[in-house]
Amino acid sequence: METNVQVHDKEFELLLDEDAIAKRIRLMAIQLNVDYENRNPLFIAVLNGSFLFMADLMKEINLPCETEFIKVSSYHGTSSSGSVKDMMGMPANIKGRDIIIVEDIIDSGLTMQYILAEIYKLEPSSVAVCSLLFKPEALKVELPELTYVGFEIPNEFVVGYGLDYDGLGRNLNHIYRAISIEK
Ligand code: IMP
Ligand code: MG
Repeated sequence: METNVQVHDKEFELLLDEDAIAKRIRLMAIQLNVDYENRNPLFIAVLNGSFLFMADLMKEINLPCETEFIKVSSYHGTSSSGSVKDMMGMPANIKGRDIIIVEDIIDSGLTMQYILAEIYKLEPSSVAVCSLLFKPEALKVELPELTYVGFEIPNEFVVGYGLDYDGLGRNLNHIYRAISIEK
């Protein structure tokens, strides 16, 4: 097992190893396969952070489904600004569809609140959020759509498996948490 990693100026220690992540994703997919049986959901992944999660999740989904990707940029360094700068690629075919938003992590929840507001404008028939990670202590808004959570984690900065620290660390196979962090 790998030990600590350094990303930019910070040291990180292992939080979730790749086997634990893969097992959890298989269970999440089983749940989705059951919950959306006989439906044709539209999965919308939020780039960049969710690219590995989305890929691994979709390999375990056996529903007739479609996949789209939106890109949101809002996050700087290790503390959430909560302001969404940009949103690109919202699909046009949302009306009347069962939408599953796939995210890497829900921190303050502000990014997801913004995305949800945009999606509701397009009149979907249902919306659920599926996030690999969730920091309950950091949540600042109500998020009743958050139905599928891989792991609840402490309010600490994490990298790996798609998640970055100022651009680096997305290619790490495991998820690591910052050992010391000035917020
Ligand atoms: P929120 O708006 O505070 O919920 O933050 C959402 C976005 O910030 C996520 O989609 C991530 O891209 C990023 N983010 C939040 N927490 C972390 C973290 O611990 N590591 C890396 N990125 C994070
Ligand atoms: Mg993200």
